[in-house]
Amino acid sequence: MADLRIELAGIQSPNPFWLASAPPTNTGYQVQRAFEAGWGGAVWKTLGDPIVNVTSRFAGLTYNRQTVGFNNIELITDRPLEVNLKEMKEVKRNFPNHTLIASLMMEPDKYRWQELVKAVEDIGVDGLELNFGCPHGMAERGMGSAVGQQPELVQMQTAWVKEVARTPVIVKLTPNITDIRYTARAAVQGGADAVSMINTINSLMGVDLDTWNTIPHVDGKGAHGGYCGPAVKPIALNMVAECARDPLVGVPISGIGGISNWRDVVEFMLMGASGIQVCTAAMLYGFRIVEDMAEGLSNYLDEKGIASVMDIVGKSVQRYSDWGNLNLNYKIVARIDEEYCIHCNRCHIACEDTSHQCIDIVPNGAGKEKLVVREEDCVGCNLCSIVCPIEDCITMVEVPTDLPPQTWKERQAAINS
Ligand SMILES: Cc1cc2nc3c(=O)[nH]c(=O)nc-3n(C[C@H](O)[C@H](O)[C@H](O)COP(=O)(O)O)c2cc1C
Repeated sequence: MADLRIELAGIQSPNPFWLASAPPTNTGYQVQRAFEAGWGGAVWKTLGDPIVNVTSRFAGLTYNRQTVGFNNIELITDRPLEVNLKEMKEVKRNFPNHTLIASLMMEPDKYRWQELVKAVEDIGVDGLELNFGCPHGMAERGMGSAVGQQPELVQMQTAWVKEVARTPVIVKLTPNITDIRYTARAAVQGGADAVSMINTINSLMGVDLDTWNTIPHVDGKGAHGGYCGPAVKPIALNMVAECARDPLVGVPISGIGGISNWRDVVEFMLMGASGIQVCTAAMLYGFRIVEDMAEGLSNYLDEKGIASVMDIVGKSVQRYSDWGNLNLNYKIVARIDEEYCIHCNRCHIACEDTSHQCIDIVPNGAGKEKLVVREEDCVGCNLCSIVCPIEDCITMVEVPTDLPPQTWKERQAAINS
């Protein structure tokens, strides 16, 4: 069976599955149960002050009765530091081979940051994660994403921590920024051993049509929250990939954002994450989702003949490039399998109204109609296969051309020469 152990910036873990700093890692009781269920690591709910919170806190975006997006306005831990430290110590004593990371947030004061680092390292954590990502509440007071949005603050506060830290330092970044590579680079310049991403995305889940209150609201008033869950996965995956292919980042990445199953785990690792963290999926379905994750990942690696999960880290990074490097002579077209088609015509409508008008409704020779793609006019946009409700009914197939691969830059050069 494939080896699921990972190593991230010197931190060893029995598997790549860590719980992200959030409600699932709020107490020793929870983290111990998570480890028993099979999670290899946990990043404790962020420690810091002040201890303050609100009700209500969460809202879900549901589609087809599945929660696809999740929003929260809660703050960091509202439990006293001593209580958290005592429980963290117990967890580490009971599970010495599991990974325990302390997530930290502090006001911009070097002395206080360093004091907190020493306190958590004294109880034997395996590493630190600096929370420069939470977008609400703490940010208004100069912490969380208020730091993560300014590269110079990220660099400075990381350096403060690195001055005293004895364990590896992971810097957790905010996605609420134009280009995450700049803050990732700043973290590295400050001495970060790894970066983790993403924290939550600024969001307002909705407005109640009857009361006109925001969703959620606190006694009739709302504030922006942090968005996460499956809906944010593409944003997170892109940010991981952008950092993974940036030579100026160059440190291991812990991937976070919308990860719900073993396939997501593989995708993040292929795109450069050395390990992953999960919050929303655990909140929605419980700790036992890790069983399917471990089994699915193991089977995948075994079927591919891959000995260690670390062997897949970054294997897709070279395949992610700039638009200008794409082959303009590559062509795919849609093919509709008449056998599967239920004649809902969604492909025809989508193509006719919003794409390239190349799916015709023609007689099928038996007194009925069929849908046929005019391949010479198809631009291979995929829209018909996306709207088709039947699996495998529309496939996109490559059409060989005689033309050699040619990028935009190469075509421009050919035109200009
Ligand atoms: C209710 C809630 C509370 C959170 N609290 C923290 C926190 O204290 N510290 C932190 O670094 N991230 C916090 N997060 C962000 C998560 O750790 C994670 O980065 C984010 O939810 C994206 O992962 P997901 O899509 O798997 O949920 C919180 C998320 C949620 C939903």
